[in-house]
Amino acid sequence: MPENPQPASSDSNYKGIILAGGAGRRLLPLTHGVSKQLMPVYDKPMIHYPLSTLMLAGIRDILVITTPRDQAAFESFLGDGSQWGISLKYAVQQEPKGIAQAFLIAENFIAGDPVSLILGDNIFYAEGLAEKLTVAAKRTQGATIFGYYVTDPERYGVVSFDASGNVSDIVEKPEKPVSHYAVTGLYFYDHQVVEIARALSPSARGELEITDVNRAYLERDQLAVEILGRGTAWLDTGTHDSLLDAAIFVRVIEKRQGLKIACPEEVAYRMGFITDEALEQLAADFGDSGYARYLMAALREER
Ligand code: TTP
Repeated sequence: MPENPQPASSDSNYKGIILAGGAGRRLLPLTHGVSKQLMPVYDKPMIHYPLSTLMLAGIRDILVITTPRDQAAFESFLGDGSQWGISLKYAVQQEPKGIAQAFLIAENFIAGDPVSLILGDNIFYAEGLAEKLTVAAKRTQGATIFGYYVTDPERYGVVSFDASGNVSDIVEKPEKPVSHYAVTGLYFYDHQVVEIARALSPSARGELEITDVNRAYLERDQLAVEILGRGTAWLDTGTHDSLLDAAIFVRVIEKRQGLKIACPEEVAYRMGFITDEALEQLAADFGDSGYARYLMAALREER
């Protein structure tokens, strides 16, 4: 039987943000007319993956930030979230001026609450991930970020550790990384994040850097770095190769297990966000399709 991630009582007081803007230059010409985050990763659009990750953390109040061009497409595709027992709202980032800009765009939405940000092109898949996320989404003070061992840390924010294993520094895209631990695109922050983002200056590449937000928490001694171990898949999908690799990964796991990765209807149901009847209706809306049959099987199993 599939693991039931968390009961509805895990609902978090965290708000969620999916940052799904960006230029998508590395995926041209695919992204010439369509957002990267609406592209398929095997059997579902990319945004379903980060959306499901936030839902697994028990987060139900979510803001989707897009480019001005793509906002209408996201809205018509995802709607207001009520079909999944969540609330989805939308905002625009005029230009991709950095990940940390999300907190300024979302200031009114955040309204002084703690908030989790996930990048729209990041896919997480691991045994026990829901529990890890739920723990992070219960912390009310400071920040939680996730470190993941990669072969190419110079592409990311890199965490270094002192002799006792405590975080000593975080550096954005270092030429000579001092560790293999990259910071993933999933972050949990307390109410201080907006004030911290407001105090940032753009970096040399003209962006408000998320690494600077994390460094501010580190300086305040309020940064927790959780390591996602080697049994975790963390994939980003920003290049043609990584997009295809992610699709193949999802296909392999789904075919082997017969269980879907990041099916929002199933996550909503197993989290207790929607009732049996609501899932049945969603399945009916998918008509005579494999997806509908999958949802009905999930329902029968729980019953
Ligand atoms: P990136 O991969 O840094 O950038 P990108 O998606 O624009 O692609 P490219 O580098 O090929 O031009 O972005 C990571 C994720 O964060 C992605 O989902 C887009 C999002 N993003 C924004 O929405 N706004 C921003 O200002 C930045 C920097 C990223």
